[in-house]
Amino acid sequence: MTLATSQPRSGEGLRVSIELTNTCNFTCPICPQAYKADEQPGGSPYNRRQGMMSEPVFRRAVEECNRVAETVELGFFGEQTLHPKYVDYLRAMKQRNFGLELNTNISFVTDEIMDVWVESEVNLVRLSLDALTPEVFNRARPGQVRDLQGKVVPEAQRLAALHEKVHRWLERPDHRPTRLVFVKSSWNEGEHDKFLEYWLPHMGPEDYVLMKRVLSYGGKITDPTAQPVDNCNVWEMRFLMVDWQGNLSPCNLDTNMDLKIGNIMDDSIEHAYFGPVADRMRGLTGCGKSITPCSTCKDGNNWSENEIHRQETSPAPRAPLPQNSTTPSAYTPLRVSRP
Ligand SMILES: C[S@@+](CC[C@H](N)C(=O)[O-])C[C@H]1O[C@@H](n2cnc3c(N)ncnc32)[C@H](O)[C@@H]1O
Ligand code: SF4
Repeated sequence: MTLATSQPRSGEGLRVSIELTNTCNFTCPICPQAYKADEQPGGSPYNRRQGMMSEPVFRRAVEECNRVAETVELGFFGEQTLHPKYVDYLRAMKQRNFGLELNTNISFVTDEIMDVWVESEVNLVRLSLDALTPEVFNRARPGQVRDLQGKVVPEAQRLAALHEKVHRWLERPDHRPTRLVFVKSSWNEGEHDKFLEYWLPHMGPEDYVLMKRVLSYGGKITDPTAQPVDNCNVWEMRFLMVDWQGNLSPCNLDTNMDLKIGNIMDDSIEHAYFGPVADRMRGLTGCGKSITPCSTCKDGNNWSENEIHRQETSPAPRAPLPQNSTTPSAYTPLRVSRP
């Protein structure tokens, strides 16, 4: 195997995602993952193979990221904590030249996993919740949940088991900066304010809630609350996805890797991202253009109604989980343009 490696062009930091696996134990109805090889509601396909990133692909991806990535986000499509080498892979990234972020549905998180997030000094831990009441959570994020002892919990206990883990994490004095994620969609309407009222008092100075607009993910899923945008921003954001097989795509919404511009096992990131294949792809992509998945994509990364919320004061004692809170919230939303 001949590997092309070169130095980064100055100032050209990339935001790389490394997909440890595209398998998932959840079937969230806003996520292309839920429909897999069945027809996606929005029309674009999501039928690529499911699997786990091998050690050679992982090591090669990290080696390249150490050269050119400004940030690495672990995860693309799938649940990273299902990878059997998850803890080993995180330990291997303790020494690195990039900021490290990750996202998880929390369902398989254990104390050992929280320990390795701390040990590897992860720069941002993103925890996906999307709901505050158990019924809404079970509707918006169905799938198997395990408790901290690794036992599968019954349906009625799913959200409580995740809450126990999130509280355990946020109460650790050494916990890493954390983002609680709430994707605003038709599946969790009415939960927005309750979610903020409940979680903000438990968050530390480096933690925050991101409430973000649901996306069609390149025209794969549909939701009545999704809104079109005029232009696609994936190239200006300098995204690069590395899937579990090492394939490279410039689009964070290209969950099927239809816009493949190379493979990490036989190309450098710099050559793949700035070379002739990518140059040609730049002209072909953009919402509504004839290539798949752009032909069905109308909303790109529409972040126009994303909101960040932070706690102003120190964390409060843990409160019981409210079931039907209707109290108006005291937060001030801040619009953001980042994902
Ligand atoms: C695809 S998941 C993968 C990581 C992990 N399984 C999780 O749920 O956090 C990454 C993030 O994308 C969000 N997501 C899924 N489908 C979405 C959609 N249609 N629009 C916006 N965000 C979405 C999830 O809620 C999660 O916060
Ligand atoms: S847990 Fe994450 S990857 Fe799995 S279906 Fe839900 S949003 Fe998609």
